[in-house]
Amino acid sequence: MQELVFATNNAHKIEEIRRIVDGRFRILSLNDIGCHEDIPETSSTLEGNARQKARFVKEHYGFDCFADDTGLMVDALGGAPGVYSARYAGPGHDSKANMALLLKNLEGISARSARFVTEICLILDGKEHIFEGRVDGEILTSAQGEAGFGYDPVFRPYESDRSFALMSPDEKNAISHRGRATAKLLAFLLNP
Ligand code: IMP
Repeated sequence: MQELVFATNNAHKIEEIRRIVDGRFRILSLNDIGCHEDIPETSSTLEGNARQKARFVKEHYGFDCFADDTGLMVDALGGAPGVYSARYAGPGHDSKANMALLLKNLEGISARSARFVTEICLILDGKEHIFEGRVDGEILTSAQGEAGFGYDPVFRPYESDRSFALMSPDEKNAISHRGRATAKLLAFLLNP
């Protein structure tokens, strides 16, 4: 069976994709290939970071692979935090601090449109392919819900009346940026 590395150690992401491509591809995590180093993400774009991570795995470990990168773009903040979403409030990757800073920076602003964008880079048989998923919505004025991760409690997609953090994983995945990008990746993998 063809092997494909997903350049992540997020067990949830790995399990989800394994279920979907079961029997067609063997999906390996970074742990599975003995990659325990921090892969550089130094690009100023999501697509650049996704390419950088996928190329790193291909060049250093030799596997066909894919990598993803996600950002939250807020129009009233000129597209911030964007590619820096994970480190918005500092290098600690602290989701609560990131959300608090976002709400503070939007205080008194009524135009709160925003979108999540995910870029996936696949390297297969020596060729690079990019898949994008996005979801439009708004930043709420306070956190709502406990589920999910990251900015989920303060983001409401226009397709729903609830924040991502008030949805089940299946509800969120059906309309989320990452869910949509992954669906495009899988359609390609299953029928290139
Ligand atoms: P990553 O590229 O998947 O690591 O995501 C970068 C940052 O964007 C994360 O640290 C989160 O803060 C945020 N993020 C990514 N995906 C989501 C999501 O589905 N919901 C909420 N926040 C997210």
